[in-house]
Amino acid sequence: MIILGIETSCDETAAAVVQKTGNRIKILSNVVASSASIQAKYGGVIPEQAAREQLRSIIPVIEEGLNKAQVTSNKLNAIAITQGPGLIGSLLIGVETAKTLAFLWNKPLIPVNHLLGHFYANWGAQSSVVSRQSSDKTSLKADSEATPKADEAILKTESYPQFPCIGLLVSGGHTDLILFKDHGKYEYLGGTRDDAAGECFDKCARLLGLPYPGGPAIANLASQGDALRFSLPRPMIDSKDFDFSFSGLKTAVANLLKEVRGDGKKGIPARSRSERSRVRMYDGISSRQDPELANFCASIEAAIVDVLVAKTIKAVQTYKVNQIMIAGGVAANQKLVSELAIRCQSSAIRLSVPPPELCTDNAAMIAAAVFYNFHPINPLKLQANPNLSLS
Ligand code: KG4
Ligand code: ZN
Repeated sequence: MIILGIETSCDETAAAVVQKTGNRIKILSNVVASSASIQAKYGGVIPEQAAREQLRSIIPVIEEGLNKAQVTSNKLNAIAITQGPGLIGSLLIGVETAKTLAFLWNKPLIPVNHLLGHFYANWGAQSSVVSRQSSDKTSLKADSEATPKADEAILKTESYPQFPCIGLLVSGGHTDLILFKDHGKYEYLGGTRDDAAGECFDKCARLLGLPYPGGPAIANLASQGDALRFSLPRPMIDSKDFDFSFSGLKTAVANLLKEVRGDGKKGIPARSRSERSRVRMYDGISSRQDPELANFCASIEAAIVDVLVAKTIKAVQTYKVNQIMIAGGVAANQKLVSELAIRCQSSAIRLSVPPPELCTDNAAMIAAAVFYNFHPINPLKLQANPNLSLS
């Protein structure tokens, strides 16, 4: 079975062709056009701008997905489309395109909850994403040509997560803990009451003058810093439920920054406008240039990771399962992965982590979800739903 997946929930425009033969899933192509470089200029996603870029790139991205997979539309068995949640303008572009193609090619159309889709990155392969900047045709070509066959790989079935399983979704918009009993059978255990983990990374990075998205920027610097340098709260780490709260951590970082900048003794200097823009441009700033910045990053990362790990392990113990899978952009964080791996190893728990390029938004995960949740819908009845959730 061959599925074309389409994903446009936030600022990415993505298409992938994924094949399932027996129990094996093979990603034939995985194309992601991101307007992240444009968002970086403004420190975040501007919905109208994201949608405008997506309108421009949706057809070329789908064409490139099919071409790279060497699959024509008549070979497709179905089309998988992200229905929500996400930005309504962005979702509409993907959903309306998918509906049109389903009519045109006479293919079943299957809506996918983006949040559930993230977990199916664990059923994806170790492929390399063809990363492209939208509205820049020259660099698109150069990028695709530079990685001729990199986006083709096979993952063995034995590596797929087993049920029952605790799923931790950590993305820019969501932090959710789910007990999966089987494909399509799950129980929502808890989630964030305010900011998501990725949002906390992004907001703290902004406070520090680092570029968007903040997660990778903080993680880069954190590896050079001392996580014990600044004491930050671990919100709700001991609460009896499986909920999270990260907005207090962001406020604590803001207050600490004010304090440190105010007395100047702890080293991190107040940044002038020109210094801030220098840091933005300087993604790879080293600890020698500004040691306290790296210490701040390490302390923030440790606080977020500690909470995520503690709650996930608590869920595993409470529900007596021996499998964890993580998903979402923050699952690309190496500290989160290594801390979880240490805890899992000592308790004989299996940990499934998608390759980093399948953690952030992509269409391969949306297509993979459909192999196990094949529920076609009449295209006339399909509507984008920005408020879909897992609870
Ligand atoms: O899943 P995703 O691509 O989009 C949503 O569905 O939200 O997640 C994006 C989030 C951003 O907040 C970004 O800062 C975060 O994932 N992120 C990371 C890392 N890579 C991406 N956070 C921490 N460490 C990373 N290496
Ligand atoms: Zn996402």
